[in-house]
Amino acid sequence: MTCDNESMTQKRKILVTAALPYANGSIHLGHMLEYIQTDIWARFQRAMGHEVWFAWADDAHGTPIMLHAEQKGIPPKQLIEDMALEHQRDFNDFNLSYDEFSSTDSNANQVLVERIWQALIDKQLVVEKTISQFYDPDKAMFLPDRFVRGTCPKCHAPDQAGDSCDACGASYDSTEVIDPKSALSTATPILRETEHFFVTLEPLRDCLATWMDSGAVQSEVANKLQEWFEDRLRDWDVTRDAPYFGFAIPNHPDKYFYVWLDAPVGYLASFQSICAREGLDFESWLSPETETEMHHFIGKDIIYFHCLFWPAMLEGAGFRKPTQVHAHGFLTVNGAKMSKSRGTFIKARTWLDHIHPDPLRYYFAAKITPSLSDIDLSLDDFKARVNSDLVGKLVNIASRCSGFVHKLGQSRLSHALPAPELYQRFLDEQASIISDFDNVNFGQAIRQIMLLADEANQYIDHHKPWQMAKEEGRDDEVVAVCTQGLNLFRVLMTWLAPVMPETAHKAAAFLDCPMDRFDSVNQPLLDHVIKPFEPLMQRIDQAQLDQVIEASKSSLAGS
Ligand code: MSP
Ligand code: ZN
Repeated sequence: MTCDNESMTQKRKILVTAALPYANGSIHLGHMLEYIQTDIWARFQRAMGHEVWFAWADDAHGTPIMLHAEQKGIPPKQLIEDMALEHQRDFNDFNLSYDEFSSTDSNANQVLVERIWQALIDKQLVVEKTISQFYDPDKAMFLPDRFVRGTCPKCHAPDQAGDSCDACGASYDSTEVIDPKSALSTATPILRETEHFFVTLEPLRDCLATWMDSGAVQSEVANKLQEWFEDRLRDWDVTRDAPYFGFAIPNHPDKYFYVWLDAPVGYLASFQSICAREGLDFESWLSPETETEMHHFIGKDIIYFHCLFWPAMLEGAGFRKPTQVHAHGFLTVNGAKMSKSRGTFIKARTWLDHIHPDPLRYYFAAKITPSLSDIDLSLDDFKARVNSDLVGKLVNIASRCSGFVHKLGQSRLSHALPAPELYQRFLDEQASIISDFDNVNFGQAIRQIMLLADEANQYIDHHKPWQMAKEEGRDDEVVAVCTQGLNLFRVLMTWLAPVMPETAHKAAAFLDCPMDRFDSVNQPLLDHVIKPFEPLMQRIDQAQLDQVIEASKSSLAGS
C-alpha cells in the first residue's frame, strides 16, 4: 500500500459543531441552511468510516432572552426549556444527526467556563477597567448597545440602533448617538460608570496569526482578519451587569459573563457529555498536542467570535484550537432578504408541514460552496430542479429498472454486469466527489453526480429494456441491463445519502443493502434479491409552495 492510500484510509477523529441557536425564537430556513450543511458534512465523514461527533446545544443566555421571558411572564429557565424542545423537534424532523443537544445554561458548561476563566486570569490575560455605559433609570439596568436608539452620528437619520445605522451602514459606539433613548422604556439613558473585565488579545497576536495561516479559515475570512490585525487588537469586554440571565462571575456578585463568553464553551460542554456517555477521553481530545480535529460551521456574521475570541480563549486555557472554521453566507429567498410580509420568512416547522425535508437538503447542497457568498432559495428554481434532477433523473433510474427485475428475473439481479467499464467510470469519479464533499464544495459534488445520473439514463435509453422485454428469449438480457441500471443507481444514491438520508434509507430498503459507507460501492451488487420498489420521492407541486408562503404570512401575527 502506498503512502497516499494509507492517508486516505486513515481513520480521522472529528468533533463537529454548528452555531448554537438562540433559545429565543423559532428556527427558520436561514438557520437550516447552516444546520443542513453541517449535517451533510458530518454524515459524509461517517460514510468515509471516520469517527465523528456532532456536539450541539441551545444558546440560552443574554439580555434578549431575559427580556423575552419577562414579557411572557415566565422565568427564563422555563423559556429556554420550552425552546430547547421546539428546536429539537424541528432538528429531528429535518433528520439532523447530532450526537448531543445540551444547553449553554448547564452546570457542566458553568464548570468549564469557570475553569477557562481562571486559566485566563492565571495567564494575566484578564484586565479590569472602568467604563461608561448607558443606564436606563426607569428599568434600573445598563443598556446593551442594541437597546439604545437615536439619531445616527454620521448621517443624522433618526431612530437608529445604538451600534449601527440602517440608513448609511455606519457602525459606532452607543455613546456617540445623538439624542439617545432607551428602547426598553421612555427614559433618556444616562451615562454611568461600571467596572468591567476584559480579555486582552494583544499578547496572543502571534499565536492567533499562526493559527490563521495554518489553513484554519477560508481565504476570504483570512483577508478580513488581516484587516483587524493591522491595528492593535482591542481588549474584549466580557462583563455584563445585573440584571442579566447568564453565569455570575466568581467572586463578583452582580457581574455576569457576557453570553458570547459562555456560548462557544457550550460546544465543549456538549462534547463532554458525549465523552462521558461514549467513554472518550475529553482531556486528550482537547489537548493542544491532539491528532483529533475540531470543525465549526458558522454564518459570516459571527466570524469575529469564532476566529478571534474563541481561539484566543482556547489558547489561553491550554486547549487545542479549531482545525477549521467553515463560514457561510446568508440565505435569501426569491432573491431578497427573508421577509415576513412577503411570506418568505419561512420557519422550519412551516416547511415541514408542507414539504419533505430531503428536497430542501438537496437544493441547499446543490448551492453550497466553500465561499461566503449568500445563497438564494428561489422557489420556482427549487421546484424545477427537484422535479427534474431527483424525480426525473435519479429516482427514474430505479423505477424504470425495478419492475423488469421482479417480473423477468424473480427479483434477482444478474450475476455479472453487462457494462463493467461504465460501472468503473462511475467509481473513477469517486475520489473527486469525496474531495468536494470534504472541502464543503457540495455544489460541485452534486453537479458531478447529476452528470453521471444522465449517463445512467442514457445507458438505459440506449438499451431500451422495455422493447427487449417484448421479444422472445431476451429475459436474461433485460435483467442484465436493469442490473446495470440499478447498480449505477446504487452508486449515485450512496453518494447522495449524506444529503438525502431518508430517501437513501428507502432506497437501501428497496435494494436490500446498506448505503451508509462510500466504500461499499467498490463491489457491485450481483446475484442478489431486491425488494418491491416503493416510490422514493414525490414531485413538488406549486400548491405546496403556495401553502408555505401563505402559512408564513399568516404566522406573522404570532411572531
Ligand atoms: N447564538 C449565536 C451563535 C453562538 S455559537 C457559539 C447565534 N445564534 S443565531 O440563532 O442568531 O444564529 C445561529 C446560526 O445561524 C449562525 O451561524 C447564523 O449565522 C446562522 N444564520 C442565522 N440566520 C441566517 C440566514 N438568514 N442565513 C444563513 N445563516 C443564518 O448567532
Ligand atoms: Zn447613518
